Amino acid sequence: MSVGVPQLLLTKLAGIDLRNPVIAAAGTCGYVDELADIFDLSDIGAVTTKSITREVREGNAPWRIIPTRSGMLNAIGLANKGIDRFLFEEVPRVRGCKAVVIGSVAGHTIDDYVAVAGAMDASQEFRAIEVNVSCPNTSTGRHFGADPSTLREVLTAVRGAVSHAKLFVKLAPDMADPIAMSAMAIECGANALVLCNTMPAMAIDVHTRKPRLSRGKGGLSGPAVHPIVVRIVHDVYAAVARDAGVPIIGLGGVMSWEDAAELILAGATAVGMGTALFVDPKSPRRVVRGLDKWACDQGVTQISQLVGQVVS
Ligand SMILES: Cc1cc2nc3c(=O)[nH]c(=O)nc-3n(C[C@H](O)[C@H](O)[C@H](O)COP(=O)(O)O)c2cc1C
Repeated sequence: MSVGVPQLLLTKLAGIDLRNPVIAAAGTCGYVDELADIFDLSDIGAVTTKSITREVREGNAPWRIIPTRSGMLNAIGLANKGIDRFLFEEVPRVRGCKAVVIGSVAGHTIDDYVAVAGAMDASQEFRAIEVNVSCPNTSTGRHFGADPSTLREVLTAVRGAVSHAKLFVKLAPDMADPIAMSAMAIECGANALVLCNTMPAMAIDVHTRKPRLSRGKGGLSGPAVHPIVVRIVHDVYAAVARDAGVPIIGLGGVMSWEDAAELILAGATAVGMGTALFVDPKSPRRVVRGLDKWACDQGVTQISQLVGQVVS
């Protein structure tokens, strides 16, 4: 059963109307609407597709997901069915989805990004296209998000290929200068910033002395990264995003409504949830209910009034 539409939580994200600020994160909720088997998708604001590449990708060999004390370590390697099959098979599901659908795009070359983003945009079914330049699990996954000049190259090209959808840019949590990278994304036409992808990390089996992930290293998500992301969202909001009027989707370790509220106070207009879906796939509903009560207790009429309102 749906939790209804709490009016306090209605959210405008880069001009897109969301029922609430909770978004299922890329790669953690299937291709499009698989979560609909668990709960009514009209209970959350948006879902993000798996990152789609030009070619079909098998991804990395197992083990490619392992639990850690404080979250998850993954090295999936962008396993996906490729843009042609994705559009053929999934567009009808996008059309029928009760939540806004954000299409996530990845690639190895600028041409890849342009081809996939352009094809998604041409379908006119995606309200936003999220450019993933921060995947730690492929050889080229972080290349374009590594410094402002490569980021400019890819975003300038993708911006030219996307005209219907809004352009979201997803950055890494270990950028040397998150403010400079965010400023560059905004300069290149990003309509929203997604902060952040997983944190490069590693685990070792002390008995075999081998890395626990087949690829050696992977990306850490979940509670361990949350305070890191709160800091990045806070700094980017205060330094560039607020004045530019570009919203932030805060994403990292949101397991409870309190985690989501913290990101909103730091400067996030919306919050993503990834690892939490593996722990309890219904957790976004809990977060939505908690945010509604919190906003009410805080005495605001719209949750957006709490964005960036940390008291310093
Ligand atoms: C198993 C798994 C697969 C993921 N796949 C993708 C992906 O395809 N594209 C992407 O942009 N992020 C991907 N991510 C990163 C998440 O979208 C999110 O940025 C990250 O997990 C931090 O949020 P969390 O702590 O709520 O999980 C993946 C994360 C996990 C755990």
